[in-house]
Amino acid sequence: MSLFVTFEGIEGCGKSTQAELLAEHLRAEGREVTLTHEPGGTEHTREIRRLLADPDCALDDRAELFLFLADRAQHVRSVIQPALERGAIVVCDRYSDSTMAYQGYGRGHDVGWLEGVNEYASYGCVPGLTLWIDCDIATGLARARKDTGGPGDRFEAEPLPFHTSVRQGFAELCKRFPERIVRIDGNLPIDEVTAHVIAAVAPHLP
Ligand code: TYD
Repeated sequence: MSLFVTFEGIEGCGKSTQAELLAEHLRAEGREVTLTHEPGGTEHTREIRRLLADPDCALDDRAELFLFLADRAQHVRSVIQPALERGAIVVCDRYSDSTMAYQGYGRGHDVGWLEGVNEYASYGCVPGLTLWIDCDIATGLARARKDTGGPGDRFEAEPLPFHTSVRQGFAELCKRFPERIVRIDGNLPIDEVTAHVIAAVAPHLP
């Protein structure tokens, strides 16, 4: 039996580190894990990731949205679904909830409409468990901005109110889907966050 786990959160919340540590932990238990990420999780969508991250690319908000959705459709079909069909555990660093939080709550696209297109782009592939690594915006941004030249730069450069709306978006999603989304305090030391992640995943393991 397969399991699809996603990690979500604002810039610098530590989710990428936690996704790697979870994958390592599960592999050490002898499980097959596909560790992947969005945007740019496939061989063919690296160019989409480059466009989305480029601070010199003055992307229109709608163009940005459809690039994320195009990226997702390709990723679901060529990486996520095949791995789940093999019975693997898929651990994905960002997925649909990032579109809801960033493009919906952050950029202001209609959230109800976005749910429908998001579902279409993801072929209805919904995570079994989503770990929202929640940390203070100041902490997250300070961590993210230390990481010079990273591909998230176009978003890191956004003003504080944008990040506040994105975090609020994740909080709303967590309230709406309490059976799927678990909030984990990302302000804690790394090993404590990992312990919470492992405890949250354990009951879902095949
Ligand atoms: P990335 O370098 O992966 O950032 P992070 O390490 O924070 O995950 O860059 C991805 C950026 O794209 C990140 O700032 C969040 C944003 N994003 C969206 O706005 N919408 C989406 O649907 C996804 C998947 C990511």
